Amino acid sequence: MHNSKKVIAIDGPAGAGKGTLARRLATQFAFAHLDTGLLYRGVGMKLIVAGLDATDVVAASAAARSLQLQDLDHPGLRSDEAAVAASKVATIAAVRQALLQFQRDFATRPPNGAAGAVLDGRDIGTVVCPWAPIKLFVTAAVEIRAARRVRELRQRGLQAIEERVLRDMQDRDARDSDRLASPLQPAADAFVIDTGTLDPDAVFDAAIMQIASNGGFG
Ligand code: DC
Repeated sequence: MHNSKKVIAIDGPAGAGKGTLARRLATQFAFAHLDTGLLYRGVGMKLIVAGLDATDVVAASAAARSLQLQDLDHPGLRSDEAAVAASKVATIAAVRQALLQFQRDFATRPPNGAAGAVLDGRDIGTVVCPWAPIKLFVTAAVEIRAARRVRELRQRGLQAIEERVLRDMQDRDARDSDRLASPLQPAADAFVIDTGTLDPDAVFDAAIMQIASNGGFG
């Protein structure tokens, strides 16, 4: 059942470049892509809309169990508010459990007849798809990730205070890494890519080389 040979698991902290790499690999291999952070953001957003607190275990668990694909289209999911709520609901074991099967189904039976799947998140290689043949852990120093985030916000015409963005990212890192339920950590057999000094093309090339040295997906 959980033995699909065509799964790429990508994990790492916020702002390390997982999403960019995941989209490029999905295009390269014609695989379906699931940004699993959106599931946690979707749960967080349901609570925000209902005026409830993201630390409310009962409400968060119910929101996770009732999450529908169309909830992931909410325009507010990319906001910092949703990210903060997501990192809080993601510490709740019952929320993670409720989202597990959805993610595994996507990996083993990718939508639209895709040949395989790329999933990116925090625990794909360790918990969701520990059987994935390719596991990448994409990371960079928190100062570099925060500086990227500041640039991105300013390019979008938004104001960004460097110290504040850095502190928010450190807080999210701590919540993701220190929680008891599936904390962020590289799988023992993950290939680690430090994107601190690499541009997106070099990150993609490193991933492609790792996949090729593993025998590819032929
Ligand atoms: O990748 P992102 O910023 O969209 O993720 C939002 C939050 O969701 C993040 O703080 C941690 C959590 N998350 C998780 O715990 N496990 C995943 N597989 C994906 C995201």
